[in-house]
Amino acid sequence: MMGRRSAGLYEPAGGSRRARLANRRALTNARKTVASSVPDDLAESVDGPTGILRPRPLLVDPHRATTRVLRVAYPFLAESGLGTDGTYLGSDVFSGGSFVYDPWVLYQSRVITNPNMLIAGVIGSGKSTTAKALITRSIALGHRAYVPCDPKGEWTAVAEAIGGTSIKLGPGMPTRLNPLDAGERPSIVSTEEWRRVIWSRRRALLGTLAESTLGRPMTAVEHTSVDLALETASSAAQSPTIPDVVTALFDPDRDQAARHGLRSESLSGDAREVAHAIRRLVHGDLAGMFDGPSTTQFDPTLPMVTLDSSRIGSGGNDHALRLALACASSWMEAAVADPSGGQRFIVYDEGWRVMRDPALLRRMQEQWKLSRAWGVSNVLIVHRLSDLAAVGDAGSESRALAEGLLADCSTRVMLRQEPDQLARTATLLGLTDVEIATIAKLPKGRALWRLPSRSFVVQLIRHAREAELFDTDSRM
Ligand SMILES: Nc1ncnc2c1ncn2[C@@H]1O[C@H](COP(=O)(O)OP(=O)(O)OP(=O)(O)O)[C@@H](O)[C@H]1O
Ligand SMILES: [Mg+2]
Repeated sequence: MMGRRSAGLYEPAGGSRRARLANRRALTNARKTVASSVPDDLAESVDGPTGILRPRPLLVDPHRATTRVLRVAYPFLAESGLGTDGTYLGSDVFSGGSFVYDPWVLYQSRVITNPNMLIAGVIGSGKSTTAKALITRSIALGHRAYVPCDPKGEWTAVAEAIGGTSIKLGPGMPTRLNPLDAGERPSIVSTEEWRRVIWSRRRALLGTLAESTLGRPMTAVEHTSVDLALETASSAAQSPTIPDVVTALFDPDRDQAARHGLRSESLSGDAREVAHAIRRLVHGDLAGMFDGPSTTQFDPTLPMVTLDSSRIGSGGNDHALRLALACASSWMEAAVADPSGGQRFIVYDEGWRVMRDPALLRRMQEQWKLSRAWGVSNVLIVHRLSDLAAVGDAGSESRALAEGLLADCSTRVMLRQEPDQLARTATLLGLTDVEIATIAKLPKGRALWRLPSRSFVVQLIRHAREAELFDTDSRM
């Protein structure tokens, strides 16, 4: 048997009058309840002018949940973020949440496998700004920063604004650094161990300077010559200088040569090329910068120390810049190598300018490998990933070293890339199609942050004071 409709109510046939009235009352009450909870624009569809019951829109109570829960309900749209422990950088474009990053925290929570970062993007895309924002804001968390490579001198104002200092190097500048300085012995390192550390650091620096200038690895006899020259210079002075070593290379000590079963005449012949190569720091275009006792002390307690090398290597003389970086970073290493020195960023801005040098790359790679032991996060800034390939031919040592650096950067921050770079970037970083399409169109200050198994598109949010301080467009 069929029922009948009355005033929009479906009434089952055969029901009693009392049942029908109860049914109508229930419907009226239900309408009132719904009408009061339905937004005005939906009300008509519930209780239209005809009063005919029509399908109601699906009414779901507003629901709030954490992004931790929502990321499961809406995968790819709602990331839970990297937590709140760290430095606030801006907003996660897809989830709208805050983006907070700290390489040491993420390393401890095993999100990343090392604390090093690579930042890449076209000219003026906001690479330096991203690094400056991350680092200056991290100072409040007790982190510190050293910037051994600042060829544009743009970190000077930043360091001074946060209570740090900048060491300005260049022809005619009063500052001189002795890259063979021993530095302070960390309390946890024994005197004997410290002697070995100093020796190997000095030895590594002399090797880098010689090989970088010669453009080839040193031969076995040259290694011996450098060892003996360093030994002579170190025994004559507590803090030997580069000129002491150059003198000992040109004119080896007769007694010392004899102790090693060598003749000083043949030793000086073997050392000739190396001696001339290192002499560049004493009499060449870098004279006056690294050829005597230091005129300043490295203060590891400052929040930021930068080396302004904007006066070196002008006119694209990147070789002078590379030698200066080798000396300056060796000088800084004394402070960095202290494992109790806290968590520090080491920034190589315009890193691509110093990377075309196997000797320097080798040095950087050693530092990268030691980052976890030293509590250091290395930050390498390049224009594009092909800068890493440009250091040498496929299969060459330089190329392998540069690609090793990339592999040792768990965090890769990709700002806008030129269209012709997208394919290579995608291959090297294993990006998805969506990520490639994203980095092709990124506006200024927005970046794809790629971590081992997560990625975020982050809009850096700058404070007005930061925008002014980090500005590099003023000369335009
Ligand atoms: N998040 C941002 N929002 C708005 N403007 C920004 C942002 N980040 C950077 N800029 C602007 O872009 C300019 C260039 O930024 P920055 O110097 O960081 O670029 P860069 O990639 O390091 O450039 P270069 O390749 O020349 O070193 C800055 O002066 C600033 O005005
Ligand atoms: Mg820059």
